[in-house]
Amino acid sequence: MRRIAVNLAGRSYDILIGTGLIGRLGEFVSALAPTSIHVVCTDVVAPLYAQAVLDSCRGVAPTRLCTIPDGESIKTLATVSAILDALVSGHADRRSVLVVVGGGVVGDIAGFAASIYMRGIRFVQVPTTLLAQVDSSVGGKTGVNHAGGKNLIGSFHQPSVVVSDTSSLRTLAAREVRAGLAEILKHGLLADREYFDRMVDTLPQLLALDGDALAAAIAGSCEIKAAVVARDERENGERALLNLGHTFGHAIESLTGYSRWLHGEAVACGLCLAADLSARLGLIGPDALETIQAAVARAGLPVRIAGISRAAAFQAMRADKKAFAGKIDFVLLERIGQAVRRQVDDALVEATLSDGGFV
Ligand code: NAD
Ligand code: GLY
Repeated sequence: MRRIAVNLAGRSYDILIGTGLIGRLGEFVSALAPTSIHVVCTDVVAPLYAQAVLDSCRGVAPTRLCTIPDGESIKTLATVSAILDALVSGHADRRSVLVVVGGGVVGDIAGFAASIYMRGIRFVQVPTTLLAQVDSSVGGKTGVNHAGGKNLIGSFHQPSVVVSDTSSLRTLAAREVRAGLAEILKHGLLADREYFDRMVDTLPQLLALDGDALAAAIAGSCEIKAAVVARDERENGERALLNLGHTFGHAIESLTGYSRWLHGEAVACGLCLAADLSARLGLIGPDALETIQAAVARAGLPVRIAGISRAAAFQAMRADKKAFAGKIDFVLLERIGQAVRRQVDDALVEATLSDGGFV
């Protein structure tokens, strides 16, 4: 088992990565001495892993299961309310622990519920998608979508421990595995050229769910993210770089109703658009742009997404929570392995969108 520390003074925690860890969950949760355990997962993940989670936690504390519907469209306040109802009816108290098992959607929703129930109870992330294991389970961003934009409502609430069982990825659809690769490439692009190159080289092993390759990829991404989060937990500066590809990506997701493209697919295209914009500004050269586009294509992810309105994309990007006073703060690349933030002339963004297939 690999262990990566997220160093945040009194809110520090470990990310545990390995095979078969869901079977050992009770051991990790019992270290928190909970008065009760409230397991939250979706109706897709529950039939796969809920019983193993309940069996593992048996004897640690009274354990209840709350199942919610699946999919990005349930990332709403109504679902948070349903989880809060379950916590109230399950008599959760301030020493109870919420255990969320599943992808980034349920992780963000249940983490938010944990952050506001009784002004905050502890929670454990058990990510079961590659995307959640390399990104969303780490760093304490929790929340839900609003009709006006993605993740507009939320909080910072760090988990007490993250338990990433790589064997759980064996039941994941291939398309979801590819979506997770987008965030792996993102971490390499923004912080570590050597990691990026290594990940591109091991894409075939990652797609084949090779255990060693997965553990190395997850550990590498978590190390990059943990270091950034430790320096800037609340995104006052550097943490914004973790949003590379997300300004474009969130616009793609919201303008296609959160249903046509997976988050990771939208981010992958967003990485290519951010790279294209960086090249137009002369920050990176054409070779780097080609390398990035080739990596995204090799991962089986979209380099271009055609047909979205440029005007609507501008509107969505200006409403994004990373915009200030209507000015879009783009995360761009100075080179592979180094991201920067910049405001950019609309004409250049127009050109990037236009060449990227926006209409
Ligand atoms: P997801 O949570 O929708 O999971 C994808 C699908 O896989 C779902 O249908 C899910 O039920 C299913 N699934 C999960 N584990 C499975 C398994 N082991 N076997 C079979 N099926 C399984 O999507 P995601 O890609 O994990 O997460 C995307 C979300 O994460 C977005 O809402 C995004 O905004 C959020 N996110 C948050 C952060 C953060 O820092 N909080 C970072 C990145 C992304
Ligand atoms: N996914 C961006 C962040 O966690 O800050």
